[in-house]
Formats: sequence, C-alpha cells, structure tokens
Amino acid sequence: MKRIIIGITGATGTIYGWRLMELLRSEGQTEIHLVMSPSAKLTLKMEHDVELERISSLAHEVHAPGNIGAAISSGSFFSEGMIIAPCSIKTMSNIAMGNTGDLITRAADVILKERRKLVVAVRETPLHAGHLESMSKLANLGAVIFPPVPAFYNRPKTLEDIVDQSCMRMLDQLGVNLESSPRWGEEGGVAAVGQVLGDK
Ligand SMILES: Cc1cc2nc3c(=O)[nH]c(=O)nc-3n(C[C@H](O)[C@H](O)[C@H](O)COP(=O)(O)O)c2cc1C
Repeated sequence: MKRIIIGITGATGTIYGWRLMELLRSEGQTEIHLVMSPSAKLTLKMEHDVELERISSLAHEVHAPGNIGAAISSGSFFSEGMIIAPCSIKTMSNIAMGNTGDLITRAADVILKERRKLVVAVRETPLHAGHLESMSKLANLGAVIFPPVPAFYNRPKTLEDIVDQSCMRMLDQLGVNLESSPRWGEEGGVAAVGQVLGDK
C-alpha cells in the first residue's frame, strides 16, 4: 500500500480534502493519513451538513492537529507525499517560512526536507504581493502550488464535476492516476484541441 497524507485547513473548499479521500478509497491502494486543523472543522461545519466522523472515517489514520509527535511528523515514516486541500493562506505562509508549530505544517516541512511530493491547494482570492511571495518561496522549496481553479473544457455539469477534475489532477501529482474526470485528448475523455478544431 502507498501512503498519502491529506491535510485539510480552514480555507473554504473543505470538499476537496473530503473528495480526495473518497477517490483514494475507491482506488483502494492507498493508506490515508488525515490531519484537519481546528479551523477546518469550523469551515466544514459551515459548508456541509455532515458529521465530522463521516469525513474522518475515510482515513485509515486520523492525527490530531496538535500532536507534533505523530508518525507523520518524522521523515522516517515513509509516504508518497502530502496534499493540503484546501490550504489556507496562513498554513501556506507558515510552511513557506518554516514555521512548523502544528502537525500540518510540520508534516509538510518533513515532506519537503525528504524531497517528497507536497501539493498545496491554496485557496484565496484576490492575492496580494505577500501571498504571491510566499507561494513563490514555497514553489522554490519544491512544493506544487495548486490553486483549485476549475477547468471548463470538460464541460462540467455539476459541482462534483468541478471538484473531481481538480482532485484528479492533484492525485496525478502523486502518481495516482484515476479517471474521475474526462482527460484531454483521451478516448471517452475530452477532445484535444486539434480534434475540436478539425486540426486547423
Ligand atoms: C467559512 C470560512 C472560509 C474561509 N475561507 C478562507 C479561504 O478561502 N482562504 C484562507 O486563506 N482563509 C480562509 N478562512 C480563514 C481561515 O480559516 C483562517 O485564516 C484560519 O486561521 C486558518 O487556519 P488553518 O490554516 O490552521 O486552518 C476562512 C474561514 C472561514 C470560517
């Protein structure tokens, strides 16, 4: 089994972390480690009528956000990487600066120092120069900055279509290739631009 760490923070879009875990469960090849910040729990409550336990039960292991001694805070605990979705500006900036006072930021810092894959679905708009500088810093440290910006070429019809497309692309980054959304240029997927335009 592969291992993937999912971090959910208090930015809007808690559905992304939730759906990532559902997709990984449907794939069935990945051990999921979940850590949710206290703000994530508040935001989840505002966004969905769902019990926290239902979200937590998707993970194989749930780590308390303040448990700095959890397995995922050590580089010797091997994982493929970590996805933080959604990622608040606060958490993104803390990781960029090496401020690792909670388990999400510590686990993310460990992923970076071990040269594993860190995907950060930063969710804020608009962005000021300080946000952009922090993102640039984090990208230079090796993280994948992945704002969950929707695509429309796949003609999404529902909110789930939009969420799934971003989640599929985030999981691609960790080598988990699912077909939760049509792919560009593939059979049953989205026509490549040449096909749409008749190769003109
Ligand atoms: C409903 C709701 C939506 C929020 N949306 C965002 C957001 O999109 N981006 C962001 O950076 N912060 C957002 N926040 C603020 C964060 O939750 C806040 O900065 C928090 O301290 C982040 O902490 P965390 O990174 O430890 O989860 C939101 C807060 C609430 C209650």
